[in-house]
Amino acid sequence: MRAIPKTIDETQALLGDAGYVCGRALATVVFLSLKLGRPLFLEGEAGVGKTEIAKALSAALGRRLIRLQCYEGLDAASAVYEWNFAAQMVAIRTAEAVEGTDREALTEELFSDRYLIRRPLLEAMSPQDGGAPILLIDELDRTDEPFEAFLLEALSDFQVTIPELGTIRAEAPPVVILTSNRTREVHDALKRRCLYHWVDYPDFDREMEILRARAPEATETLSREVVAFVQRLRKEDLFKTPGVAESIDWAKCLVALDAITLSPEVIADTLGALLKYQDDIQKLHGSEVKKLLDEARAGLAPA
Ligand SMILES: Nc1ncnc2c1ncn2[C@@H]1O[C@H](COP(=O)(O)OP(=O)(O)O)[C@@H](O)[C@H]1O
Ligand SMILES: [Mg+2]
Repeated sequence: MRAIPKTIDETQALLGDAGYVCGRALATVVFLSLKLGRPLFLEGEAGVGKTEIAKALSAALGRRLIRLQCYEGLDAASAVYEWNFAAQMVAIRTAEAVEGTDREALTEELFSDRYLIRRPLLEAMSPQDGGAPILLIDELDRTDEPFEAFLLEALSDFQVTIPELGTIRAEAPPVVILTSNRTREVHDALKRRCLYHWVDYPDFDREMEILRARAPEATETLSREVVAFVQRLRKEDLFKTPGVAESIDWAKCLVALDAITLSPEVIADTLGALLKYQDDIQKLHGSEVKKLLDEARAGLAPA
């Protein structure tokens, strides 16, 4: 476990060591979130590196990462705890087969830690070796409002009450990172609890840095073309704009195909790494790819 960084520069360097390329603005909110113990709410398009921040922070600080993946219909039972009903039933059956079972003792046993299934929120509130964990509440926009309200409460006092067991309180509150792909607006009340940062697509230089960190096998020349093309492609009206994840994937595909530079043919053959919707792929076929490539190259200063 490492101590939390003391300055914004240190935060930036720390994330950098974990392979995360982080601008000043993001480093500032991460630093403040750690220093003030406030949850960090990250919003942005899919594939811009929101989830990765939590992973990088966990790796960099040597803290455990606990992830709550949100989905439609997620409820408190799946987020906090459940009783292991099947195991309880077996225990009851077994006890029934034995004469003179102490019923009171059995009931107590059935609602003990042994039959408790800890879900991410309870896990994050429980004492940990190695300091407070990083709690990643991922893709919050996929849940519904009642769950959001529930979460608001859980995040305000960092404790969970289990009627049969009592209240479990985090000794040191977890470092909370929430993400949203903004398929809907998250409620103001929740946002107010948090520090907020909009994670945007990186500019050319930053995306180059990310490729150097995440796809070092690609040559500088190829990476420059990849980034220039993807940046140009992001200006097109697409159903799903390629994120950083796609740039990395694409660069890796091109390296695997021994491509040294881009050509309209090689782009057409590998579009599936960049665009995941047939309509978008269709749109780019033919002369469009060549035009975009020419425009992307025109923007590249000579290396
Ligand atoms: N700033 C960055 N530095 C390093 N890698 C990044 C960065 N941004 C994105 N990535 C890469 O892009 C991939 C997708 O990012 P992810 O965090 O899953 O996106 P999101 O959660 O925003 O949809 C990650 O696996 C990571 O490798
Ligand atoms: Mg994500």
